[in-house]
Amino acid sequence: MTSRIIGTGSCLPETVVTNDYLSTIMDTSDEWISSRTGIRQRHLVKEETTASLSIEAGRRALDDAGVKPQELDMIIVGTLTGDYVTPSTACEVQAGLGAVNAVCFDINAACSGFVFGLHTVNAYIKSGMCKTALVIGAETLSKIMDWSDRSTCVLFGDGAGAAVIRADETTGILAYDQGSDGERGLHLECKNRTNNNPLVQTGMEPGYTHMDGQEVYKFAVTAVPASIHKVLEEAGLSPDDIDLYVLHQANIRIIQSVAKRLKVSMDKFPISLDHCGNISAGSVPILLDEVNKKGMLKKGDKIMMSGFGGGLTWGSCLIEW
Ligand code: UT7
Repeated sequence: MTSRIIGTGSCLPETVVTNDYLSTIMDTSDEWISSRTGIRQRHLVKEETTASLSIEAGRRALDDAGVKPQELDMIIVGTLTGDYVTPSTACEVQAGLGAVNAVCFDINAACSGFVFGLHTVNAYIKSGMCKTALVIGAETLSKIMDWSDRSTCVLFGDGAGAAVIRADETTGILAYDQGSDGERGLHLECKNRTNNNPLVQTGMEPGYTHMDGQEVYKFAVTAVPASIHKVLEEAGLSPDDIDLYVLHQANIRIIQSVAKRLKVSMDKFPISLDHCGNISAGSVPILLDEVNKKGMLKKGDKIMMSGFGGGLTWGSCLIEW
């Protein structure tokens, strides 16, 4: 038994913010941002929330799959920017969709969240505990940015992507790898509330995201190709056998470096970071939906998804479409 993606959907906030706009409110430029990262614009929330984006992405994925919300027995949302500490975003999605039969919880694995969600559903499906699931990667990262820190805030965007997964006896997930390195976790951090009780008040100032970009960059360009090679080895395939590489969209230079290390043409690496920026857990499912809706996925195609980032975490998942 394996797990097959049978539908995809995504939802981006209405408002587009260009690099040129950012250069009017901080000391930056389109030239710096686009030449260092490939990012030209991102979508930022105004009225939308992590839950509202997730619900719409989920609804679109269910429509694409031809599945009713009541058929879902599991909803997992990969996110680090849920609207509440509790309820989880997944429970909000359940209520929004009317998915009354689903068990719902969130996974916080930052930019690996969607891929970790897929692997988790796959384990439930293999054990027989689940048949039909919705996995979402969703973020409103703009609310945890320090908008006076130009080195980080220009990189990220908001949005949600979703996939409907169903148990399948023939094909779907072929091989996977995932891992974590908590020792290096503080290279990309956003602090939660601090201690606050009758014994100690350390203040409740909100945390904002800080990243040592160069350390995370070095991590990504080594961990991602190593993880992909591991998955290919398990599947008995070579890099050329893969039709499409759907990677987390952090930086075009990271993706170019991975392509070079795998000796694969950049033509096999679709890109969304130019118009979306880095959406952490949202990047992989939003890009998957984009290539699906463009008709770029054919039955039998082999697709390698790979997420990497905060934690530090990484995960790669090879599927047959
Ligand atoms: O999703 C999680 C995974 N995240 C990642 O994979 C991110 C990985 N890291 C990166 O993509 C890159 O490290 C960055 C894009 C974040 C930064 O690129 P960099 O080439 O490492 O730049 P830098 O941090 O070394 O900064 C170079 C210069 C500095 O100025 P000085 O000290 O050389 O005078 C910065 O102050 O660029 C300056 N700078 C900026 N200038 C204009 C930093 N941010 C900006 C900005 N606009 N927005």
